[in-house]
Formats: sequence, structure tokens, C-alpha cells
Amino acid sequence: SQIHKGEYLHFMEKEIFEQPKVVKDTLLYACNQENEETAGNAGNSEYPEFSYEAFSMTEKDFQEISRVRVIACGSAYHAGWVLKSVCESLARVPVQVELASEFRYNHPILEKGELVISISQSGETADTLAALKEAKKLGAKTLSIVNVKGSAIARESDFVFYTQAGPEIAVATTKAYSCQLAAGYIFSLLLAKAKGKISKEETRSLTEELFLLPGKIQQCLSFDQEILPMAKELKDADNIFFLGRGLDWAISMEGALKLKEISYIHCESYSSGELKHGTISLIEKGSPVIGLLSQEELAGKSISNIHEVRSRGAKCFAIRMEDIAIEEEDFAHNLIVPKTHPLFAGSLLVLPLQFLSYQVSLLKGFDPDKPRNLAKSVTVE
Ligand code: G6P
Repeated sequence: SQIHKGEYLHFMEKEIFEQPKVVKDTLLYACNQENEETAGNAGNSEYPEFSYEAFSMTEKDFQEISRVRVIACGSAYHAGWVLKSVCESLARVPVQVELASEFRYNHPILEKGELVISISQSGETADTLAALKEAKKLGAKTLSIVNVKGSAIARESDFVFYTQAGPEIAVATTKAYSCQLAAGYIFSLLLAKAKGKISKEETRSLTEELFLLPGKIQQCLSFDQEILPMAKELKDADNIFFLGRGLDWAISMEGALKLKEISYIHCESYSSGELKHGTISLIEKGSPVIGLLSQEELAGKSISNIHEVRSRGAKCFAIRMEDIAIEEEDFAHNLIVPKTHPLFAGSLLVLPLQFLSYQVSLLKGFDPDKPRNLAKSVTVE
């Protein structure tokens, strides 16, 4: 391939740094679709508006959605959990997220009006493709959110949204995942609009907030170096725990997977509230626990869960959104991402998590671009 790392040491680093641009490109892609209704007055519009056509769908297609089923693998599956949270919050449409490899064997029941969304960077993942074919056989309407034009999953789906990440080379996905999050926000916003669940004003302010994200992602690129002290402290750990509630939990799943994939350290993502029902028995003196704190209404509860592990000897680290109050002395490190709408916070929290995996992998002497045993695209079941 003709793609070069340029000034970067690894494709993973290059791709992390491309995120402000590709997320912006994905937002713009969702606006610049030819739309008969709005094409005429596009020039009059004072702010960018997302169009149903970006999903190759009509407003009516959106109105007919009564439920959503996401099928995906790996990081794309984690993006599905973010879509679920945002979509249920904004559009009040129920979303179920399933591993593509499980879907077919779980005696799937799809209701009339249920839209099946497959999320995939490559568009070639065998498990996702097979699940999609099964959903079609069951009569479902299908939408795919894919990064590769003309890929098998795109061709097989009724509707397609193309994330604008460009070619992703590193096995551990970063920029494609970020674009999948953006696609999920846009989908949720359009669904909420089509269903009359949000006002014009809310639509406008959320859209504006989304267009501020690339600049805030840009600010988060400074974690490349800022994460180093924390990476050094974590590189020799045997187990690392990630905690979060709600959207923070969804992002912690991706943070844990990323670190596992390229540092070979065992990581576990756990819902903060579920901790006392399981993982807390693993906590001992010095166990590293990374708490994600971006959801104002849930932060208090998550912090009390962090106190539970701290009083059992855990060494705690916070990755939090600006304005979320914590007791700094509770944490060995305390990393702060800029403020955004809580529904979009994951797009910022994921940056320090990506850099953490990258730097830990380097500190351990591994090649983050080529983790052992893993393939970029898995075309066998
Ligand atoms: C592989 C990769 C993962 C990726 C998953 C889904 O297992 O190692 O990083 O998330 O496939 O890939 P897709 O191309 O469908 O997004």
C-alpha cells in the first residue's frame, strides 16, 4: 500500500492524531448529502444540518423505526453500546446490542419496525456479515455503518453510512472507532428529530456541540505525552480494572480492550455499581483501578464505588471531564478532558485511553501496530 507513517513512529500514533480531521469529515459527510427538500435553501441555513440521506434513508424510513438492534464485533461492538446509550436518551427508541458471533445462534427474534445496524470498520468481518444475512432472512431492514466503500457488509445492507476515517492500518482501531461514535450520535439525533422527540432548538444546540468536538479532540492529543507518567506506573501491572457507569462504562470497555490488545496486560472493564457483586474480590493492595468520570449525574455514585476499592488498597486513577468534582488526593493521577455535552463525552475520554495503550505497549517493547495473534480483519467465523 502507498500509505506511509510520515513523521510518526507507528500507524497507531498517526491514526490517533488524524482523529480531529476524520471526525470532522464524518460530521461534514452527514451534512453534505443531496437532499431535494433542503437543497434549495441550503444556502440559507445558518448552521450545518445533518441529513437522513447520509444514511441513504428518508425521513419516513427513520419514522418507521420502532426498535434498533446493533450487531458488531470487537471495538465496533463497543461503539454499539455508545449508540445505545445516546439513542435511548435522545430518541427514546430501544436499542439492543449483540455480538455478531452470538446473534445467529441466539434464536434471534426481530420485531416489525426493528432496524438492524451492523457496525464494521472493514465491512468484511465474517461474523458480522453472517449475522447481517440472517437478519435479512428474518425480514429486517438493515443499515450498515462501515468505513470501506463497496465492502461486503455495505453491499449486503439496505442502507449505508460511510464513516470517513480513511484507510486504517494499525490492528488496534482508533480513528475508525471515533468515527463510529460520531455516526452513532448523528443517527440518534436524526432519529430523535424524525420521531419528534427533540425540539428545533435542542437539535441545533446538539449539532453545534458536535461540530465543536473535533477541536476538543485536537486538545486531547496532548495526552500523547501527558499520559507517560501514568503509563510508566501501569506498565508492570498484571491486572488493571476500568470502572464507569452508563456511557462511562461503554467507553471503559473500549479502554480495557485497547490496553489488553497491544500491551498484553489483563484488563477488565466493570460497571461501577456491579463491582461489589464481583470484581471487588480481586482488589488487593496496589491493584490499579482507572475510573472514568464524565457523567455529572452519575459521578457521585461512581466516586463512592472508587472509595470502596481504595479502602481495600487499590491505587486509583481518574480520567474525568472538566467540572466533575473529585478529591484529588484519592487519585494517583487525575487526567482532565475538556467539557462537552455528556452524551458526547466518550469521544474525548477515549483519547487518553488510546494513548495509554500506545505508550504502555511501547514501554514494554512491543509493536503496537502488530499485536500477536490478532488480525485487522477477520474473514473467518
Ligand atoms: C478484529 C479486530 C478488531 C475489530 C474487529 C471488528 O477482531 O482485531 O480490532 O474491532 O475485528 O472489525 P470490523 O472491521 O468489523 O470493525
